[in-house]
Amino acid sequence: MDLTDAPELRYFYDRTSELSTLKQWILQAHTRLITIYGLSGIGKSDLALKLIEQTQSEFDYIIWLSLADTPTLSTVQTELKQFFGRSPQPPLPTIIDYFRSSRCLVILDDVENIFKSSQLAGQYLAGYEDYGKFFKQIATSSHQSCLIILSWEKPREITALEAVNLSTQTLNLKGLGEQAAEILREKELADEEKWSDLIDLYQGHPSWLNIIAATILELFNGSVSLFLADGTADLFLGDLEPLLESHLERLSDSEKKALYWLASQNEAVDISRQPADSELSQSEFWQTIQSLARRSLVEKMLVGARSMFFLNPVFKAYIQCKLNIV
Ligand SMILES: Nc1ncnc2c1ncn2[C@@H]1O[C@H](COP(=O)(O)OP(=O)(O)O)[C@@H](O)[C@H]1O
Ligand SMILES: [Mg+2]
Repeated sequence: MDLTDAPELRYFYDRTSELSTLKQWILQAHTRLITIYGLSGIGKSDLALKLIEQTQSEFDYIIWLSLADTPTLSTVQTELKQFFGRSPQPPLPTIIDYFRSSRCLVILDDVENIFKSSQLAGQYLAGYEDYGKFFKQIATSSHQSCLIILSWEKPREITALEAVNLSTQTLNLKGLGEQAAEILREKELADEEKWSDLIDLYQGHPSWLNIIAATILELFNGSVSLFLADGTADLFLGDLEPLLESHLERLSDSEKKALYWLASQNEAVDISRQPADSELSQSEFWQTIQSLARRSLVEKMLVGARSMFFLNPVFKAYIQCKLNIV
């Protein structure tokens, strides 16, 4: 096992249902390619580390590689071969050969780094397109191993692979829910009866809650009631702003237009009706909403048989606040 590239796992709460889904995919269904995507700081790396802890006895090899420094595919393949080559068996020509002969678990973290900015979600940087082929090969050829991709964005071709290939699965990671209370407890905040309101406002997002908890300690000595006292005020963002901005920086022009439009809507919208004031064509508009959903910025809810889409409320507050300043 080589986890030198992985972050350290400190506190870990809940994620019981996500872990059981992942274990079912890996151990029972022998899923070969898994994508876990979600906002930065939502807990993708921590979840994958916990998964390793709970499944390591099932694998011969486990390796974690971060794409934070945008290595090319051939660099990654060389690193993988070096790692697999440490075993006493004679070296094999390709990664897939190792995937066939042993049970390997490979985690690729920070995969958003090989996707383009200012384009719709999940498109590879120039010179990195071969990653797409590599992922496809892992999903479609027969072997006994598993590759897990951790990313802010869902790669574009994964949707197509999922549709035809039972060995590909995707998990869109959301907040922690009620269990996020443990984060507030660990920070020793007061007014436990108000914690669930705070968790709802910040969507159980562990990093956001950690940051807001630090603010509550700094400004209100830990009193959640005082922090929430003025219920009519705008959602407080403070130190979350740089995190939110790092997601908006990656958007295409059409996504920015759609996002600003969604920020001005009071309710979830039915996208079968093209907004009258939109400068996008119907097909551009749909592609844009799809892309924003692949970035977890826009969410879908079902109202009867209809899908309605809405902007993540924290991003909505951030955009509204930017609009008021500009
Ligand atoms: N299940 C969890 N329980 C407690 N804290 C968590 C959990 N998941 C994430 N966190 C907190 O959020 C931070 C960011 O999580 P991380 O897994 O690094 O996010 P991502 O990889 O999605 O960017 C962690 O450092 C940790 O403090
Ligand atoms: Mg991470």
